[in-house]
Amino acid sequence: MDSGVIPFHTPGHMQGKGMDRALRDFLGDNVLAIDLTQIRGLDDLLQPTGAIAEAQALAAEAYGADHSFFLINGSTSGNQIMMMAALNPGEKMALPRNSHKSAMGGLIVSGVQPVWMRPEVDDALHMDHTVTPETVRRTLDAHRDIKAVYIVTPTYYGVAADIEGIAAVVHERNLPLLVDEAWGPHFHFHPALPVDALEAGADLCINSTHKMLGSMSQTAMLHAKGKRVRIDRLKGVVKLFLSTSPNLVLIASLDVARKQMALEGAALLSRTIDLAQETRRRLNEIPGVYCFGEELRGKPGVFDLDPTKITITVKNLGYTGYEAEEILRRRYNVQCELADLFNCLALFTIGTTAEAAERLVYGVAQLAREDRPIDVFSPSGVLQRRLKTGTYALPTIPPIRMNPRDAFLAPTESVRFKKSAGRICAEVITPYPPGIPVISPGEEITQEIVDYLDLELRAGVRMQGPYDSELRTIRVVSR
Ligand SMILES: Cc1ncc(COP(=O)(O)O)c(C=O)c1O
Repeated sequence: MDSGVIPFHTPGHMQGKGMDRALRDFLGDNVLAIDLTQIRGLDDLLQPTGAIAEAQALAAEAYGADHSFFLINGSTSGNQIMMMAALNPGEKMALPRNSHKSAMGGLIVSGVQPVWMRPEVDDALHMDHTVTPETVRRTLDAHRDIKAVYIVTPTYYGVAADIEGIAAVVHERNLPLLVDEAWGPHFHFHPALPVDALEAGADLCINSTHKMLGSMSQTAMLHAKGKRVRIDRLKGVVKLFLSTSPNLVLIASLDVARKQMALEGAALLSRTIDLAQETRRRLNEIPGVYCFGEELRGKPGVFDLDPTKITITVKNLGYTGYEAEEILRRRYNVQCELADLFNCLALFTIGTTAEAAERLVYGVAQLAREDRPIDVFSPSGVLQRRLKTGTYALPTIPPIRMNPRDAFLAPTESVRFKKSAGRICAEVITPYPPGIPVISPGEEITQEIVDYLDLELRAGVRMQGPYDSELRTIRVVSR
């Protein structure tokens, strides 16, 4: 940093000197001074032999992996990398329908053919949990040509799958198990948390370190164990997806997050778990509020639970989760991680303070006290009526007519969404959050899906993916 070397290399801001003053002053010189890329003396993320190789080896040791890779485009790139490394175009992979939308990106990039597995559905919470070993076994029995199994665990809401049971089924056939463990980078470091994917038998897994630990946004890790996925191919694919100009600030933050967990993880996480459990207990004392916990364990698709996620179910207060999230932010200065129709989700991490937890409890208590008659003509009123009459149901998985990659790249046209039943979808439509696609490229749009998305739109859900974000039109494969 202070070596006195005169820079004639990227990045163009030359350690801040070429950057607009306002941002430079705001960021401070230290951040800019270490924003350097591949120059002599610094290691190369694509071909690491020095400090980055050492940092990745320490990460592998901390996580019990054979190899760990630092990612600078989140678990999003991790999903693409896992599929590209483990499968060839056109090969089949079993994966749950509640996979994150970045898994669809992985399917499109890799050309892998999905075989969808239905996760267990919790009608009371209007939530998908995980897939069970029985579902994986049935899927593998029905499709003998599947080449890999991919699962997501934990879910966004912190529900963990029986990975060991699933790994046993998958490994019986000597297939690789790929795990999107984006929400579980902390699991390995505390015995009260669910078992981590690698320990439970995953061949590859990804962790969004930035989501639950102390590293910066975009940072994630990919871990590999065993020999079912060829390491030379994995290394080649990792290189393909990484920038040749990685940001060292991000990489350094991954290394220190690893160090923090390796040295102090158990103590820091004990405090976080205790705070979250106490907060969950207090929230559950508020009339009309429900935050699920241990009583869910053992239900279908709920093998274990991450106590640091608090799902605040507000449907009995007469609010949608979206409305509650908005009120909590605007009136009580509390910002949740996500909202869906029935719930708001609060994350507790090693950065959550007791004061913050106090504000959350106060905000939710106030929300529960507010007198809010339900207007049946408001979007949430429609929803409430449907719920009462039982006409609200998750859509069934639509028939697959084309490979996602072929449909995504096919000639397409725009048609009116409400009239689109029967056509082959050419885009991903994901109510966000939680970011689970309802329809994907290559699938037939069913009337049930049109009705479901219509209801979500009227309840104020934001859609990600469609060219027309209000979904008046939808892109379909041309006839
Ligand atoms: C299950 C799951 N996988 C992958 C991702 C993508 O992670 P990232 O934001 O680190 O790219 C997310 C993001 O929310 C996720 O929930």
